Amino acid sequence: LAKRVQDMVLQGGEEEEIPLLYVCRKKERDEDDDVYLAPIPVIDVNQASMDLEELERLKLALCSWGCFQAIGHGISSSLLNSVRKAGREFFLQPMVEKMKYAKEVEEFEGYGGDPPPEEGQPLDWQDRLFLDVYPQHRRKLHLWPENPSSFREVLMKYTEKLKLMTETVSKVMAKCLDLEEECFINLFGEEAPFQARFSYYSPSRRPDLVLGLKAHADNSGYTLILQDEVQGLQILKDGKWLTVPAYPEAILVLLGDQMEILTNGTFKSPVHRVLSNAAKARTSIAVFYTPEQGKGIGPIDGLINEEMNKPRMYKHMEDYDNIHWEYYQKGLRAIHLAK
Ligand code: SIN
Ligand code: FE2
Repeated sequence: LAKRVQDMVLQGGEEEEIPLLYVCRKKERDEDDDVYLAPIPVIDVNQASMDLEELERLKLALCSWGCFQAIGHGISSSLLNSVRKAGREFFLQPMVEKMKYAKEVEEFEGYGGDPPPEEGQPLDWQDRLFLDVYPQHRRKLHLWPENPSSFREVLMKYTEKLKLMTETVSKVMAKCLDLEEECFINLFGEEAPFQARFSYYSPSRRPDLVLGLKAHADNSGYTLILQDEVQGLQILKDGKWLTVPAYPEAILVLLGDQMEILTNGTFKSPVHRVLSNAAKARTSIAVFYTPEQGKGIGPIDGLINEEMNKPRMYKHMEDYDNIHWEYYQKGLRAIHLAK
């Protein structure tokens, strides 16, 4: 388990078999699985360009897809490229360098893989570096790579910009539901955590047997995903897996379960996964923005109206983060428990 996927790929001879721990037992993918592109709406989140029509498009995207490709987010393409480059360069270093930031098996933060899932659940064909970035007092800087030398500065800049972006995004999400503009910002709270996950998906000789990341829905409020030019992220829509196009300038805003619960099921938290690629390595940076823990989570009053055909769809949940994690480890969705 301690062995990293990237190492196995680099050391494996042509005849080496995929370790069984990574093999998905069910047939997870069909031949033509990676050919259909998801027509996910591209939305300019710059508030100046958000007229009523655009707000309606946003609402439609969040109710049907549970995600959209954000442009006009105020983050320069040179910064986006620097983040991609810093992430990729970290993983391309020798193992001894990366192991300086190795995580404890049962921990989340640091370099490595997820804590091992329940028996019978496949491991993901990927390596990752997971770091708390906000609030600042939660940063464990000893886990932030010193190499490449730009890494820390670039990540600090990027997360500062993302934090500003979430203020805008949370406002337009509230507006499109006719809620008070600061509604989500206040509900998430000042201490709402931002956690960055850099992923490195090594190529695999048997992309038919493994997944880069198994199917799941996020626990977060919402997740900000920066892809590189190699596609692989897929969304499950109406029973079909569709590939999320990788646009160099866009940040994918993908809702997590907590936003579906807060909006009483109006917005959707989509099931998604990452395919493995036979030829190319893929990298991504996902930043999870999650409501403060400890307050519990439930539907916003303004979105429940028993007379108006909007019955309460979800209970108040005290500790959704942990329940989500427990179910994730079993390969199950936790949101059904909140119904
Ligand atoms: C995910 O966070 O679920 C996948 C992100 C990605 O690698 O595109
Ligand atoms: Fe995810």
